[in-house]
Amino acid sequence: MMNVGYKVLLALTLWMMITEAFPKGHQKTKCHLSKYKSLPPGYLEAFKKAKDKFEDIMLLSDQKCRTRIFHRNWKVKQLSVHDRVILVEKEMNVTINVLENVEDPSLSELLSKPLEILIQIREDLRDCTRQTLPHSERLKNWLQNFDESKEKETPGCLEASVILNLFRLLNEDLRCIAHMKVCV
Ligand SMILES: *[C@@H]1O[C@H](CO)[C@@H](O)[C@H](O)[C@H]1NC(C)=O
Repeated sequence: MMNVGYKVLLALTLWMMITEAFPKGHQKTKCHLSKYKSLPPGYLEAFKKAKDKFEDIMLLSDQKCRTRIFHRNWKVKQLSVHDRVILVEKEMNVTINVLENVEDPSLSELLSKPLEILIQIREDLRDCTRQTLPHSERLKNWLQNFDESKEKETPGCLEASVILNLFRLLNEDLRCIAHMKVCV
């Protein structure tokens, strides 16, 4: 005959086994990127303002680069769905870090809205990269070259590279991962 204490213990044990098999926040970690198939016009407007301002002040500072850090001779759609998200996350990380450190006050003011948007996108990406699969050779090489060339460049070059890459990042790369398997 089971006494009540034993039943409670049994129920508790079962409950713990179940919650371990289905980790907390299982719902929350669902990956939702389809809303980025097209960005609201207001978003793009904010980015355009910052880019225009940057182009105005660009000629006055040293933006020379030794390499093209974001360059790649393949399209994001040529990667697996998982690798694409990693690529975009990497680009986001670097873009956010660089833009957060922009010193020119007239530019950094215009960057606050774009940064807010980018940080939100990065949050959403994080839910899509919890599962860590091995990267393809193509992505691995790109990530390695990217980190190496980033180290060699001046802050001015990084700023220019990041700002000039913004629209490809948003309109091609992010849009591609928003379409998941049907990115063409
Ligand atoms: C981006 O940065 C986060 C930490 O802020 C890190 O956990 C993640 O691995 C980075 N992603 C890539 C692809 O480097």
